[in-house]
Amino acid sequence: MSNKILIFDTTLRDGEQSPGFSMNIEEKIIIAKQLARLNVDVIEAGFPIASEGDFEAVREIARNVKGPTIAGLSRVIVKDIDRAWEALKFAKKNRIHTFVATSDIHLKYQLKKGREEVLDDAVKGVKHAKKYTDDVEFSAMDAVRSDIDYLCLVLEAVIDSGATTVNIPDTVGYAIPYEFGKMIKTIKENVSNIDKAIISVHCHNDLGLAVSNSISAVQNGARQIECTINGIGERAGNASLEEVVMALKVRKDFLHHATGIRTKEIYKTSRLLSTITGISVQPNKAIVGENAFAHESGIHQDGVLKERTTYEIMTPESIGLTKSKLVLGKHSGRHAFSKRLEDLGIKLNNVNLDKAFIRFKKLADMKKEIFNEDLEAIVEDEIAKVEEVYKLEYIQTTTGNQTLPTATIKLKKGEQIIQDAAIGDGPVDATYKAIERITGIPGKLISYSIRAVTGGKDAIGEVVVKVSFNGEMVTGKGASTDVIEASAKAYLNAVNKVAGKTKVKGVKELKSLRV
Ligand code: KIV
Ligand code: ZN
Repeated sequence: MSNKILIFDTTLRDGEQSPGFSMNIEEKIIIAKQLARLNVDVIEAGFPIASEGDFEAVREIARNVKGPTIAGLSRVIVKDIDRAWEALKFAKKNRIHTFVATSDIHLKYQLKKGREEVLDDAVKGVKHAKKYTDDVEFSAMDAVRSDIDYLCLVLEAVIDSGATTVNIPDTVGYAIPYEFGKMIKTIKENVSNIDKAIISVHCHNDLGLAVSNSISAVQNGARQIECTINGIGERAGNASLEEVVMALKVRKDFLHHATGIRTKEIYKTSRLLSTITGISVQPNKAIVGENAFAHESGIHQDGVLKERTTYEIMTPESIGLTKSKLVLGKHSGRHAFSKRLEDLGIKLNNVNLDKAFIRFKKLADMKKEIFNEDLEAIVEDEIAKVEEVYKLEYIQTTTGNQTLPTATIKLKKGEQIIQDAAIGDGPVDATYKAIERITGIPGKLISYSIRAVTGGKDAIGEVVVKVSFNGEMVTGKGASTDVIEASAKAYLNAVNKVAGKTKVKGVKELKSLRV
């Protein structure tokens, strides 16, 4: 049996469906391309029947993202499978992932069907999917709470019908590692044709055991792990990709398995997801949290300075985390700027490079030391710019504990300059109200986050907002050394996505289909 563990990433499906994480198509494509650089084996790009937005995202990812297999989810229902295929057929390597619940509790209360009928549905679904592609994955939803003999019967039948991967989800995050490992072992020993399929696991984190359960499954014969970047996903999330991968890498001596993941892309992928969704990981999050490699106590610091392995089981470099480096200053030229971007893996066309260089020069006037993170923020800010229907020309805010917060804003629309002012609960609120008065586009601010890109008083502030325009959720980003300006830019970035008719599909038409 191969020692390779396949990594099936479901950030764009199970992850994206959780509250606050919805992304538009452009954002999903950016993430999918980064997942390809990370070298995941499978990208589950969405659930095509769930909404028009999901369908288009899967189709565009299938068309544009090369490398990994692109999977789409479907129930074991003909119209779901047909729709999944419509979106997936453009991918060079595609997989239909079809599922039905197998636990009595789901059969009785949700499906209202008997075991025989569900078995029949599963077989028919897999056979139908098989007409389109050789690569068919079957998931027995709520497998952990299913009767083991019935589960084995279903798995045997779907493998006979052509399933090449059988997934054992712990849908409600109920399993305990030893118990889950034993379950995988039982499946291996009792499903007569199991050698014709790969056993996959999909663990939710309700008890904080998703990663442990996945590793225990590997020790007992599973060869595919379904997981997400930063562990995002339904409720408490899914097994975190970075934790699973680094556990397998760091403890290779004990586990004897490897993934094909380029671990040096891990940090970048985690950050990209946080930036796009506006939701950061907690500081103590394993592998990618801000404190994951910080040594605070004197004894630890002393040890690490003498020999880093005293308190470090892996290096920050192994996940692509490099020390903040002072890279450029006021006198650096365009060539040095573009060379540094290339070193960071950022290639811009000439137009974007010019724009980014102008931003860099302005920044260098305000900020003495410019770090890699500053450059990344500038570039993200420039690239994040959609068609600028409204451009920020001027902003002035007044605030204080004895004044009414007021914002005066000038926006440029084509050749026209439009100016207005508004009061608000604070300077940011006043700014957003003034923008709304000028553009006439009403938006509801759903979330606002700000982070300092580097340390120091003159650090760039990066603001990410989520704004609902008539129920359509749009993310906007902006960066500046002035946090109010960054806030205005982020909001305007979201407004421009709507005003510029950039396709923004984040709305869930069929929420009931989320699994
Ligand atoms: O948690 C779950 O059971 C799922 C399946 C659709 C794989 O997400
Ligand atoms: Zn799930």
